[in-house]
Amino acid sequence: MIFVTGSAGFIASNFILNYLENYDEKVLGIDNLTYASNIPLLEDLKKNDKFLFYKLDINNSLEIEELLYTYKPNKIINFAAESHVDKSISNPDSFIKSNIVGTYNLLKCARKYQSECFRINSKDFIFLHISTDEVFGSLEPEEASSTELSQYKPNSPYAASKAASDHIVRSFNRTFNLNTITTNCSNNYGPYQFPEKLIPLIINNCLLETSLPIYGDGLSIRDWIYVEDHCNALIAIMENGKIGESYNIGGENQISNIELVKHICTLLDKKKPSSNLKTYQDLIKFVPDRLAHDKRYSIDIAKIKEHTGWKPKKNLTIGVSETVDWYLANLDWLENIKNNDFEKWIKNQYQ
Ligand code: NAD
Ligand code: DAU
Repeated sequence: MIFVTGSAGFIASNFILNYLENYDEKVLGIDNLTYASNIPLLEDLKKNDKFLFYKLDINNSLEIEELLYTYKPNKIINFAAESHVDKSISNPDSFIKSNIVGTYNLLKCARKYQSECFRINSKDFIFLHISTDEVFGSLEPEEASSTELSQYKPNSPYAASKAASDHIVRSFNRTFNLNTITTNCSNNYGPYQFPEKLIPLIINNCLLETSLPIYGDGLSIRDWIYVEDHCNALIAIMENGKIGESYNIGGENQISNIELVKHICTLLDKKKPSSNLKTYQDLIKFVPDRLAHDKRYSIDIAKIKEHTGWKPKKNLTIGVSETVDWYLANLDWLENIKNNDFEKWIKNQYQ
């Protein structure tokens, strides 16, 4: 059995869908069900006999230990986190609590559990910590891509909270021989992403014919990876990664925000033309920049390729087109996921 935290979130629920389909092993999921949780998909997943779910915060040691000793998972995959950079700017508290203290708490439980139930320095047990390329901070236009050895230079409270968690994970490996692996992935996109993030936000706003907010000059560059590629990279790492190491994961698809948004508008102009607008691009609105907005991320993925043979498969043009199709085919899901917290957030953040 594998133990997945944050199991109702975007990446974890895609991971679990993929895992249940391709592996016989059972999945034990926990999530404290924040505004970002995908409840409709969680309800579907619960119908699968191989999936067990508990509503639980990663800060709750007592119950986490009880689950570990009851179900004896051989892997903990820690996806649980507050994940939206803008929210970490307007209110960092929950980022410190979940991303730093929560990860520390989970590590303490895992350390005790591993020492009592498994051998050290073996792959009998793995604590896989899911982190981000944002820990490396912003790159200049000509600067080389970030490698696993690049300095950590986080700029937002979100990135700093993830950087702190990565350091604590590393220390539990070096000091207590906990069998950890950390992954630092670039921007994910694909089915079931909460519409606070750029790609689903733009699709949602086009469909509502409301403005498409572009921070600053729109020239910030992100490296986009299709969520399924990320999930497959994690499986490759569980199978062939080395304990104590960290691995960068990226899609090798770099594009500026404005180019990406225009591309989505062009796709929607063809797939779902507006009766009021000549093109959805007319909705583009440049708005004040995000504080400490990182200009460019670019991640070097030579190490994961070499150690595991994994490489990203989905090209951005195809991936974004499929993602737009997915949202168009799942308008009910999009409507249902926009809870009161989301509407309030949109109002405060953008008006
Ligand atoms: P998400 O916000 O969609 O999901 C996170 C889930 O974690 C939510 O269901 C939430 O309820 C849960 N959660 C939060 N705090 C918790 C706590 N204290 N206890 C239990 N559950 C808690 O996020 P996501 O985009 O799926 O990201 C998942 C992980 O991947 C995060 O650790 C994030 O830092 C990392 N990551 C995300 C991206 C990306 O582009 N989205 C890229 C690289 C890394
Ligand atoms: O790089 C990995 C990270 O990618 C993950 O660790 C984070 O969890 C994830 O949220 C994502 O962070 P970003 O800040 O890059 O993603 P977001 O979708 O919020 O923004 C992508 C880019 O688009 C960024 O340069 C900011 C810009 N943007 C975003 C929003 C929401 C806008 O211009 N307008 C917007 O309204």
